[in-house]
Amino acid sequence: MNDRDLSVSVVARDATGPDPGGRGPRPAPSAMIDNVHHVGIVVRDLPRATRFWRDTLGLPVTRQAELPDQGVRAALLAAGDTEIELLEPTVPDTGVARFLARRGEGLHHVCFRTPDVAGALAALAAMDVPLVDAVPRVGLAGRIAFLHPRACHGVLVELATPPPGDAGPDSPVRFKRLVIASAAPQETAHAFRRLFQLPEVEVNGGPRAMLGWAGGSTLLMVPSTEVGGLEGLVALSMVAPDMPPLVRRLESAGVAMLVGAGEITVEPRSSHGVHLHISRYHFP
Ligand code: CO
Repeated sequence: MNDRDLSVSVVARDATGPDPGGRGPRPAPSAMIDNVHHVGIVVRDLPRATRFWRDTLGLPVTRQAELPDQGVRAALLAAGDTEIELLEPTVPDTGVARFLARRGEGLHHVCFRTPDVAGALAALAAMDVPLVDAVPRVGLAGRIAFLHPRACHGVLVELATPPPGDAGPDSPVRFKRLVIASAAPQETAHAFRRLFQLPEVEVNGGPRAMLGWAGGSTLLMVPSTEVGGLEGLVALSMVAPDMPPLVRRLESAGVAMLVGAGEITVEPRSSHGVHLHISRYHFP
């Protein structure tokens, strides 16, 4: 990508009305982000975590690699049109290793899919958004870059442009929603909308806000007071249209959980630190 491409993508996103430069019709504006690419989970032991997320939940592994430059061993698992990324630190003193030492296993970052990670970074840099990676690098998900958590109210956000033709296999349990707790959920939602132009999904008033794609992947912002004062990524919701075989797999693996009518709540000690809710239906 050269400088001219960057300026074109920024103009195409920001301009309204006739092209002031008089250079004829401009390309249709395209969304910076078109889906959640994956949710990153830090784990202590990748093979053990894989036993839960792949063997018990049934998510197929799409890619797995040791990334020595990043000090992690990582796997991506298909979860509908989104993925789950498991990260095990392999050396001390990386961000992932410090996270594990300080907080234990659990939800670590959210990655948004963009058709043009370099263009997205340039647009964010032009808004003075603090970035960890000023230029994209190669990661498990394709060409990736991280924003500084300061940019998104303490949430670590990654952007990824996957390789072409990267559609994952079908999976019996699919990503539905990531829950983000914040002292000021509306402000957090506003920051995500401003940075990534994520669409807003209507919720029934109140302090909560939802961003994303109705019927697809969403982020739900909730007040910290609803979740015992926690902030950041606090819970993951998934959908399993065919519950009985899933419940049998979870039971035979000895997973600690509450099973209700059409929904399962897995205890974090069984899901590698993740508050995991699985329901039969996508709605609400
Ligand atoms: Co990631």
